Amino acid sequence: MPEITAPCEQDFQSFLARYRASCPKDVLVVDEPVSSDQDITAVVATLARQGRHPLAYFERVEGIAMPVATNVFASRERIARLFGVEVAGLHQAYQERSRNLLVPRVQACGPVCDMVQEGDVDLRTLPLIKHFETDRAPYITNAILIAEHPDTGAGNMSYHRSMLHSPTEIATSLHSRGDLWRLLQLAAERGRPMPVAMVIGAHPLFMLAASARVPFGCDERHVAGGLLGAPLDVVRTPQHGIAVPASAEIVLEGVIDPSARVEEGPFGEFTGYSSDRSTNNLLRVESIMRRRSPVLVDVVGGNSAEHLNLARIPREAEMVEKLKARFPSVTALHYPNSGTHFHAYVALKQMRPGEARQVMLGLLGWDPYLKTVIAVDPDVDVTRDEDVLWALATHFQPHRDVLIIDGLPGSALDPSASGVGTTSRMGLDATRSGDFHGVRAQISERALQRAREILRSR
Ligand SMILES: Cc1cc2nc3c(=O)[nH]c(=O)nc-3n(C[C@H](O)[C@H](O)[C@H](O)COP(=O)(O)O)c2cc1C
Repeated sequence: MPEITAPCEQDFQSFLARYRASCPKDVLVVDEPVSSDQDITAVVATLARQGRHPLAYFERVEGIAMPVATNVFASRERIARLFGVEVAGLHQAYQERSRNLLVPRVQACGPVCDMVQEGDVDLRTLPLIKHFETDRAPYITNAILIAEHPDTGAGNMSYHRSMLHSPTEIATSLHSRGDLWRLLQLAAERGRPMPVAMVIGAHPLFMLAASARVPFGCDERHVAGGLLGAPLDVVRTPQHGIAVPASAEIVLEGVIDPSARVEEGPFGEFTGYSSDRSTNNLLRVESIMRRRSPVLVDVVGGNSAEHLNLARIPREAEMVEKLKARFPSVTALHYPNSGTHFHAYVALKQMRPGEARQVMLGLLGWDPYLKTVIAVDPDVDVTRDEDVLWALATHFQPHRDVLIIDGLPGSALDPSASGVGTTSRMGLDATRSGDFHGVRAQISERALQRAREILRSR
């Protein structure tokens, strides 16, 4: 397994150079010019339909004064390589490293301080990409907002789609209503704007830390250190002193005014639908920091493997650990791309009647995004939709094996959810019941071995 993460290298460009050197076949370099209007999404979507998920690097994008790297998180194999493990060990590696909280090291300056513009900013020079025809405007999809708690200084990091509102302002959405939303409510109660920094492009493990599932008050920059294997080197932003990665590509800094509302969206979301459900927030930008020669690190929008994996790996890792600790009969858990963030497949070796239902209830209760969980026996490969659907087709009886709970809070972006934001959740028990008498049609190991020999050179 080639080592592609070196703790001393915390920037995207070093990661990219290392990755291109160690896994050249997994990087698609496009050197012909492409448009910033949907061409990048179209290339990635076409590759995905062919079952290909390389890291994509576009050298020349019209209207963007820097190369664009995208699709970094589209393959689980690549994410596992970041941790130096095989895919099967990814959840455990993520959990172990993310628990090793490391306090960042404050530096006087770093590559992101190459060019610092304070006061009179002009955001029209920002690299913005239109991902879908239905998007309201070109967007920054990889905008990690960092805010610090006004009393404790604990940082929170999360992703927020961002479009230009004016030469000095950005429209963004906090529709997940997570911890950043909570900090914004606190700012509103105190009658103050909320200072934030927006990191556009940093090491992939920093990006993964921004998706970490941690309690309010746990600083995700400390998680980033754990994932990187060394404290995150940070510099302070010029106006508000927010600690940001010293080797980020681009950082904006400013304030979100809790009382201002602006037009934002629609935007192609992880559901595969264009969504205008937005909290319509306004970010007034006060300074820009950037490297001399930055790369735009983009996140492919919509229900791309990249967008889904980025949010899902930390969530899956947490759920696998929790489930296995509480239910030792659980052998595997997988969130399939086909279900966006709303489906999970769980395999368990059922020791007593009803156990699959209890496991499904646990998952449906713990993960607020989930709508449907399918439980199967351990011989079913939960990473393959076809295998799980086969189990559903042959082991499951609708009158007996469904559980449905209604009236729960769900994802704001689920286009099928009610106007008040509630959803119902369902568990489908596709494990073989006690009186199941099917005999599986089998092929002998000898014949399978012979088939492999015959097909080896064909
Ligand atoms: C690529 C990506 C884009 C996201 N875009 C948004 C967004 O535009 N608005 C939002 O509220 N949440 C968005 N999220 C989800 C939040 O980042 C996520 O819910 C976050 O972990 C919540 O964090 P918090 O509780 O620390 O605020 C996005 C997540 C990913 C991975």
